[in-house]
Amino acid sequence: MSENQNHHPEEMAAFFDARADGYDRHMKNTVAEYNLFYEAVAKPILPTEERIRILDLGCGTGLELKEIIKKTPQARVTGIDMSRKMLDLLAEKHKNSTIFLELIQDSYETVVLSSEAYDYAVSVMSVHHLLPDRKLALYKKVWSALKPGGLYIEGDYVVTPATERALMAEYLEMLDSGQLTNTLCHIDIPFSVTTQFALLQEAGFCDIDVQVRFKNNAVLVALKPLKP
Ligand SMILES: C[S@@+](CC[C@H](N)C(=O)[O-])C[C@H]1O[C@@H](n2cnc3c(N)ncnc32)[C@H](O)[C@@H]1O
Repeated sequence: MSENQNHHPEEMAAFFDARADGYDRHMKNTVAEYNLFYEAVAKPILPTEERIRILDLGCGTGLELKEIIKKTPQARVTGIDMSRKMLDLLAEKHKNSTIFLELIQDSYETVVLSSEAYDYAVSVMSVHHLLPDRKLALYKKVWSALKPGGLYIEGDYVVTPATERALMAEYLEMLDSGQLTNTLCHIDIPFSVTTQFALLQEAGFCDIDVQVRFKNNAVLVALKPLKP
């Protein structure tokens, strides 16, 4: 969600709590090729009636779940999000759903995840707020939480290397000048595909690929190998 960029950074949960009500409409109106993008997030998931486990980092109101449920109607989805209001909207939308929902209000950076528990991990439009070292730590955590052979699917903003450098410099300047009260503020620092690939590879993933790209939105897929 990038309509008010890095000028007056707000605390993350407060930012989304304040915008939860109009959130779905905002995304449908602003995400390039909205339907195709969210379909692409679910595309690598193999259809099954089994109760497979899916981890959703920054699930928000669950826009990605609409497509995921079509592929895995019996899945057990663990959704993690800091915003109570976004989670409440998700729960309301899916109160009669066939999937089993486990919603956790917490930061995916700090919450403890079971090891080798998930068949898939997804994150859509959420992890572009993290500096490289924190994103790498998160990718390592996701890697550990996935079963061997599990897939990580990330749909998020990507930028050119030059824009990445500019946004990073702006962010670091804000940190240096004390403009950030804490580092869980809503600040957009999307990376280039090159940086994304490097971080995912460093975390241990293989077969990293761009599933689709629509303007500045891309769906990346990364595999946790069967054998380390
Ligand atoms: C733009 S929304 C995306 C929601 C949903 N995945 C979608 O595609 O519509 C970003 C979500 O990530 C959540 N978020 C951001 N940083 C987080 C963190 N460190 N831990 C948990 N949730 C986080 C926000 O609260 C927000 O609901």
